[in-house]
Amino acid sequence: MSVLIKGGRIVTAADDYVGDVFIDNGTVSLIGESLDVAADKVIDAAGKLVIPGAIDPHTHIELPFGGTVTCDDFTSGTVSAAFGGTTSLVDFCFQMPGQTFSEALETWHEKIDRCKPVIDVGFHMAITDLREGGTLEDLAKVPDEGVTSYKLFMAYKGAVMVDDETLFKAMEVASDTGALVMVHAENGDAIDILVKRALSEGHTEPVWHARTRPPETEGEATNRAIQLARVAGAPLYVVHVSCKESIEPIQIARDKGWDVHGETCTQYLFIDESALEKPDFEGGKYIYTPPPRPKENQEHLWKALSTDVLSVLSTDHCPFNWPEQKGLGRDDFSKIPNGGPGIENRLHMLYEFGVRSGRISLNRFVELVSTNPAKYFGLYPRKGTIAPGSDADIVVWDPNKKLTLSASTHHSNVNYNLFEGTEVTGAPAVVLVRGQVIVENDELVAQPGAGRFVKRARHGEELLPAGREAVLA
Ligand code: URP
Ligand code: ZN
Ligand code: ZN
Repeated sequence: MSVLIKGGRIVTAADDYVGDVFIDNGTVSLIGESLDVAADKVIDAAGKLVIPGAIDPHTHIELPFGGTVTCDDFTSGTVSAAFGGTTSLVDFCFQMPGQTFSEALETWHEKIDRCKPVIDVGFHMAITDLREGGTLEDLAKVPDEGVTSYKLFMAYKGAVMVDDETLFKAMEVASDTGALVMVHAENGDAIDILVKRALSEGHTEPVWHARTRPPETEGEATNRAIQLARVAGAPLYVVHVSCKESIEPIQIARDKGWDVHGETCTQYLFIDESALEKPDFEGGKYIYTPPPRPKENQEHLWKALSTDVLSVLSTDHCPFNWPEQKGLGRDDFSKIPNGGPGIENRLHMLYEFGVRSGRISLNRFVELVSTNPAKYFGLYPRKGTIAPGSDADIVVWDPNKKLTLSASTHHSNVNYNLFEGTEVTGAPAVVLVRGQVIVENDELVAQPGAGRFVKRARHGEELLPAGREAVLA
């Protein structure tokens, strides 16, 4: 199957030019001006942008969490992602307490075998239980499975939180294996005390979620993780940075040239802590962790994204229905399942309020949602760019398409949208994964199973275009 994308404005992290892209057998074969080649399918991209498919490195699909299970499976979650221009995601495979890493991976592979994805999928390993004489030794083997990042939670005490000893040991293994260490950085011990105290004083409403997780607890844990990673010699990636207190230590580390990276997520750029005060338990929709912060943090986050202190925008898509699932904590904010949806609207929001409002360039837009995630998570240059040999994961983006974001039109199973009613201009017209058209004319044209599991390279190593590994070996 061959595809010719004609006359679009091709934008990568580095380039911006008008041309044609010829795709053969799933990979980009030729790029040029007015290519004279026959193709099975021709896509007219005049007046449109042609950008690398976006990569979401932070999702929680069908995750048992907070006494329930996130409401997207790998079919619905990836369909929703595809409609928003995301062509690969990296989901967190959770090691449940007592499980080995191979058992955890088996569970996550079963999920994608049962509910087949329409876009490509990789896994991170979320470590909850590291023991000498068992899982500690096994951890070194996880990257051989193409799972080349370890995630550790410094919060959620009594559930998935690990102590500093475990965090540091995992970092030491990562420094030997070339895995990237990802941290959920909040001081879980301090938060646990604040939560218990608030509840004992009768504070049960959603807003206490934010009041018991002050920004300093995020800043402290971020700095601790950075310093420990430095001692262990491990690369570090701080997930869902939400506030100035956490941006600052990342900026200091990056100024020193340390291998430290940070992401924020769409919701932190737009939703502030006042959302938690919505009446009739509506505040429960905004219970995710870290919590929505005081509004002034949004400007710090935008600045950090434009100055490369933060270098990825992800979603932390962790959908629970409201009020059915969120209602588990109607009388106790600490029992509301933590997580918010957003897999479909990341590019819509960043294009509208980042590119169209002049905060970031088009190249930076591509870098934040595609190229940097590809580079950090061992997918580049197979993904994250448009170049000869790369996977033809491509979004033909219509900069004039108008859309009102809503739960009534999004494709996730979740029954609310964090950006309900937001009007945007700019949306995918056609989405291709490895040369196969997945979404066109607002219709899903692919079948579940169009997506594949991707074995990722180690941090700092390249994932060569398919077929070239053998040639170069
Ligand atoms: O509230 C959140 N973010 N839930 C998902 C788990 C995590 O902390 O990333
Ligand atoms: Zn987290
Ligand atoms: Zn998360």
